[in-house]
Amino acid sequence: MKIPEQRIKIALQKSGRLTEHSLDLLARCGLKIRQSKDQLFCFGENMPIDLLLVRDDDIPELVSDDVCDLGIAGLNVIEEKRLTLCNADRPALFDQIYALDFGHCRLAIAAPEGGDYGGLRSLQNRRIATSYPALLKEFLEQHEIDAEIVNLSGAVEIAPRLGKADFICDLVSTGSTLAANQLREVQNVLASEAVIIQTRAPLSEFKEEWINRILQRLTGVQQVRESKYVMLHAPRSALDQIVDLLPGSESPTIVGLGGDDDKVAVHAVCRENVFWETLESLKRAGASSLLVLPIEKMLA
Ligand code: PRP
Ligand code: ZN
Repeated sequence: MKIPEQRIKIALQKSGRLTEHSLDLLARCGLKIRQSKDQLFCFGENMPIDLLLVRDDDIPELVSDDVCDLGIAGLNVIEEKRLTLCNADRPALFDQIYALDFGHCRLAIAAPEGGDYGGLRSLQNRRIATSYPALLKEFLEQHEIDAEIVNLSGAVEIAPRLGKADFICDLVSTGSTLAANQLREVQNVLASEAVIIQTRAPLSEFKEEWINRILQRLTGVQQVRESKYVMLHAPRSALDQIVDLLPGSESPTIVGLGGDDDKVAVHAVCRENVFWETLESLKRAGASSLLVLPIEKMLA
């Protein structure tokens, strides 16, 4: 009997702020895809992985219902659904594996420009339009504010102008949507970024192995983004000081230099950004021939 082929399914936002970056991240993990005509399905050509491009709001449910094994979405969407979908029958919906450090934005309350805002108390007994009713409700309860939540599925930013609400609670990324609608941010509700979630359904050994492999590669890709390979020459007398100045490096390689007993070559992977200031301090400490190189791949 032929065992049916097992494939990992990953849910991604089909068009929006996270789409391009999510696809790029998976490409950097080595995934090559072929996109279907309707562009909603991507077949992994070199790995047993398929991508489903869906509305971001549907991603948490697809993963909790085990239609997809993994999903990449904003923490705002994940947390809203966690509050909405969680109940006694379904206490834990999915595991959040980790934050991906892109798609940074915040869920915030905004007020019409020119209007008064004197802190959270100003929200008391007022109307706040949002498409994140569960997160807003939780926030208001935590701060013991009674306010009416006006639940809208879109175009939240025009609610005050239409007289439907006094404030809005919406996602702010660059702030241009607020500015275009004469609104100003007055209260932060939740800091968000893209996160990856995994189903809680039991996985076959095959799927588990592949998921671990993807996650390991994702970690590698993230580390590589910030890491640099630094090479320099250092006088032996200043070696300790110079090594201390290398940002986020663990035990660098120290090798002798031909024909110069007073100096050594230092090679180190720096896991933090290497700025001009760092190089200047290294030089002041006696380092010379400084080179900073990008790292293409990294596997711990
Ligand atoms: C959010 C939000 C605003 C916009 C803010 O929508 O609803 O419309 O982004 O971004 P800005 O501060 O850069 O102007 P989102 O991208 O989440 O789309 P969606 O609600 O349709 O998923
Ligand atoms: Zn959405």
